[in-house]
Amino acid sequence: MKFLVVGTGGREHAYVWKLAQSNKITKLYAAPGSPGMARYAECVDIADGDLEGLADFAHRADIDIAVIGPEAPLADGIVDIFSERGLAVFGPTQAAAQIEADKDFALKLMHKYDIPTGAYETFVDAETARERLKAWQHPLYLKVSGLAAGKGAIYCETPCDSLRTVDEVMVQRAFGAAGDKLVAMELLEGEEASIFGFSDGQNIVCIVPSQDHKTIGEGDVGLNTGGMGAYAPAPVITPELFDEIVQRIMKPTIRALALEGRPYRGILFGGIIVTPAGPKVIEFNCRMGDPEAQVVLPLLKTDLVDIVAGVCDGSVADLAIELDDRAATCVVMASGGYPEAYETGFPIAGIARAEALGDVVVFHAGTARRDRQLVTNGGRVIGVTAIGDTIQSSIDRAYEAVEKIDFDNAYFRRDIGHRALNRGIDSNIQEPAQSIFDSEVKNGVCGTR
Ligand SMILES: Nc1ncnc2c1ncn2[C@@H]1O[C@H](COP(=O)(O)OP(=O)(O)O)[C@@H](O)[C@H]1O
Ligand SMILES: [Mg+2]
Repeated sequence: MKFLVVGTGGREHAYVWKLAQSNKITKLYAAPGSPGMARYAECVDIADGDLEGLADFAHRADIDIAVIGPEAPLADGIVDIFSERGLAVFGPTQAAAQIEADKDFALKLMHKYDIPTGAYETFVDAETARERLKAWQHPLYLKVSGLAAGKGAIYCETPCDSLRTVDEVMVQRAFGAAGDKLVAMELLEGEEASIFGFSDGQNIVCIVPSQDHKTIGEGDVGLNTGGMGAYAPAPVITPELFDEIVQRIMKPTIRALALEGRPYRGILFGGIIVTPAGPKVIEFNCRMGDPEAQVVLPLLKTDLVDIVAGVCDGSVADLAIELDDRAATCVVMASGGYPEAYETGFPIAGIARAEALGDVVVFHAGTARRDRQLVTNGGRVIGVTAIGDTIQSSIDRAYEAVEKIDFDNAYFRRDIGHRALNRGIDSNIQEPAQSIFDSEVKNGVCGTR
């Protein structure tokens, strides 16, 4: 089969790396790809926002299935464009991708279908927002409803912070149209985890839970980033909690979207927080997380081609997904200064030495090749993933690998996995979490293209 992976980051590199292991793949393309992906795929110079250009290419190159990595093209309707042209594509339609692209829509859906989440209120004008927020208990979160590249959720400690945020978003329009709707959400307290499920619109199979590290600073302080590291399995999600999340959150959400006439095909990402009152949804995303993909995919034993095909042809219920029972940790090496101003163009050395350690893969997030030299070309530069028998050993190996890699001004957090280690439970990695079930949605509701 000929596959095309759309995207440029570490997550897409992980897709390409995993797909390349399949003996069903005869040709792999990446658009626009990266120097890391070029090891396994032919990179085609088409931006991930050029939806028509990508569809033209997929048609010309006779692609069997296109796998869409990032949320922006999904929210812009790339799946609809491909489908209209009769091209098979892995990802949700524009209507289904609203689960991520419109937080107001997602919260409304969850409340309508009794999916556990926080109280919320949506505002469309500044005056009403200011007035209504007086009644809200603080601290709370204010979030722009649209896509904001991970910068649109603002913690408001006091009513004063809320008023300032309303002004920034709705008067100064710091987030543009993404801030047309502003959502207030009750503060939920607990530890977060990422749950990924593969759905064909009717059934969903969820795989090993993982945990991201959002902030730039060790101890989870400082500015938010795209994610500074991840590990899986995340022990905060016990087998009991995993089951509860699948039954009360993931499955009902797939059913709700189908009932709303927006059947969801692709990867549904539940951003879960484990509160004293049980697991609740912070948000949904319409694709895998980055860097969580870089720890989850290496633990997937099943051929990713079979999973992608199962999602596309509606046979997820027949998938028998097998997971590695070890652990994986990914440490992101970033350009010093990120997520604020940083320099690029520094030569990167030592990737081969790091990978020679064994059970180590280096995923490229922001690199470029200049005169045959690999150089830094982004805030997050590479993700160094290692597998080990325990979380501790995967962490140790990841840092051993990081030490072999060198570029000027490199920055990385030294505490990836600290929550798992602080539980002191590392001795028992749980059975790989996974669940398949049939939703009660009738065939007709989901329909197919
Ligand atoms: N209601 C909430 N209670 C507690 N923390 C929250 C809440 N909403 C968001 N957060 C925190 O802010 C982060 C970003 O919010 P999220 O809704 O995931 O938006 P995005 O990922 O689109 O920026 C979350 O991972 C979480 O740490
Ligand atoms: Mg989030």
